Amino acid sequence: MFDRIDPLSAPSAPNPYPYYARLRKERPWYRDDALGAWVASSSAAVEAVLGNDALRVRPPSEPVPTALHATYLGRAFALLARMTDGPHHDAARAALLVSLETIACAESDAAIARCAGRLLVDGADDTRVIDRYLFALPVGTIALLLGIRDEALHEVTEAARAFVTALVPAAPPRALTSGEHALQRLRSTFEACIEHCEPGTPLAALASRIDRTFTREAAIANAVGLLFQSHDAVAGLIGNTLCAHPADAADLDALVADVARVDAPVHNTRRYAAHDVTIAGATVRRGDTVLAVLAAANDDPARSLPYYTFGLGAHACPGTRLALRIAAQGVAHLRARIDLSTLRAASYHPAPNVRIPIFTSPIDETGSIA
Ligand code: HEM
Repeated sequence: MFDRIDPLSAPSAPNPYPYYARLRKERPWYRDDALGAWVASSSAAVEAVLGNDALRVRPPSEPVPTALHATYLGRAFALLARMTDGPHHDAARAALLVSLETIACAESDAAIARCAGRLLVDGADDTRVIDRYLFALPVGTIALLLGIRDEALHEVTEAARAFVTALVPAAPPRALTSGEHALQRLRSTFEACIEHCEPGTPLAALASRIDRTFTREAAIANAVGLLFQSHDAVAGLIGNTLCAHPADAADLDALVADVARVDAPVHNTRRYAAHDVTIAGATVRRGDTVLAVLAAANDDPARSLPYYTFGLGAHACPGTRLALRIAAQGVAHLRARIDLSTLRAASYHPAPNVRIPIFTSPIDETGSIA
């Protein structure tokens, strides 16, 4: 029964939840030889993994993916809070927390409305608009909050997309080249924004933390990193909320919070053992990969948290509040313009860790069934 689906194909399966329930019950913490990874799916196992500081966000032998060595992408990757542990992570994370805390709800709502207004031009009601909106709304909103001008929004959103695509493991050389150019453009844009940012803004807060551990280069990389972090994850949260029949939901904030647990956008995250360590009775060896299946733990009746979608411990998501709000307001703006009552996912993006619906069916895209 476990043959046709595994923890990496589950996020794009039409309905992975019966599989997750069985996995959690029958194999809450096991070594999967086919995947070459330990897999944690019960809430206790996921908490043990994400709470153990011997398990790091990057393999000890490859802090930066080999394909990114000697590239600009690799230099930025090595500075991202999400991709580091230790003193650099602590400093970058502290700066990000201070930065994101400056964003008031009214301010994020205004940025979401401005961005939605640009993306949803009157009369555009086909599913391709929605498929693009899922990604462009969160990235555009964060960009506006970071001080990007409206006129530069399209270019920044496209550059963020190229950057994200280049960081996908085993990205083809063409994607790496576009990502490298995109990052250079984003770097110059944010450099100029840091130069001219108003006091009290998220970018000014980030810049105020620049010191010997958290350099100017790191501040810029992590500002770009915010676009990266919101790109797929918020797209999934908006998309999965659209699949949860929001057409007549009375309270979209409540619906989004529910979807974040029952049909989460981020299904799993990885860790790598920095040294041999015992976890839930098993010895995990230095260099071993561990997969924490957040989406399986979300439905564990024994869970001690409302959900695991935003992670926990040292790397827990600092953008949770903003992400939930962008999704709820994003769906509200869409609902005000487009009839969502018949919207259905045609398929899901073939990603191993995020669940993002695609609403355009192949026949709409190409004129013939793919
Ligand atoms: C629905 C949307 C989102 C989901 C489900 C999500 C989920 C997560 C998860 C699970 C992690 C931890 C990964 C790990 O421990 O391996 C994380 C980290 C992070 N997230 Fe989010 N995220 C979302 C949106 C955002 C947004 C909008 C931002 C900021 C604008 C953001 C910023 C970050 C950052 C900077 C980290 C790295 C923190 C660190 O390593 O200390 N996320 N996110």
